[in-house]
Amino acid sequence: MSAMLHEDNVGNWQVFPDTEAVANAALHLILQAAEQAIASEGIFRIVLAGGTTPEKVYRLLVGQACDWQRWQLYLGDERCLAQDDPERNSVMIRQCLLDKVGILPENIHFIPAELGAEAAAATYAAQLADKLPFHLVMLGMGEDGHTASLFPGHVHNQQELVHAVHNAPKPPPERVSLSQCCLSQTQRLLILVTGVGKHDAVKQWQAGHDLPVARITSYRQTDILLDKAAAGA
Ligand code: 6PG
Repeated sequence: MSAMLHEDNVGNWQVFPDTEAVANAALHLILQAAEQAIASEGIFRIVLAGGTTPEKVYRLLVGQACDWQRWQLYLGDERCLAQDDPERNSVMIRQCLLDKVGILPENIHFIPAELGAEAAAATYAAQLADKLPFHLVMLGMGEDGHTASLFPGHVHNQQELVHAVHNAPKPPPERVSLSQCCLSQTQRLLILVTGVGKHDAVKQWQAGHDLPVARITSYRQTDILLDKAAAGA
């Protein structure tokens, strides 16, 4: 299925023909991670992402025979907008996935970004503190190499689990993001990168530049799935 595969200390890089193939591969990795986590611990803690590629994965998850009641769902970042704003990651995820599968409402842990960045970050950090590590963190990457809402050049307190983000270059400017150290407390990391607009950042990442996305690590397995356009293949 993949056109190229190589493994190194920063993960398994795989290039697929198009976005649909990336989403399908991501689906299979998620299903496998869920099955393993539920078999060994009876619970699957997953962090979901915003963005167009993850959205395709959520649509594919609908209709899968998963043990949804054992899923605990978290978000990697959120935009500080009203709770029902269509630009919220939570709204997109609810519409594509949660309205259609049986994840228990009490197991859906959205970021309360409507409270404002500072209050939401503090509240979410308290919620997450005893839930780590995650079983799987899924992330997208922006054209500037950002991931979640960790943007190049932004300085945060590295000890925090969750950051209040101001002046984000991608609208809206006010956001909340899990930190590098929080996102890296995961068994598996899955990064989805599609579209020609990401190619420059991919080149920088592969050349060892210090991009936010390049800083996230995992305990066991990191998979970076790209389409040909992003990979420049
Ligand atoms: C957000 C996202 C952000 C996103 C990337 C990639 O809230 O904006 O969490 O980090 O994942 O910008 O987005 P695309 O897949 O749409 O390019």
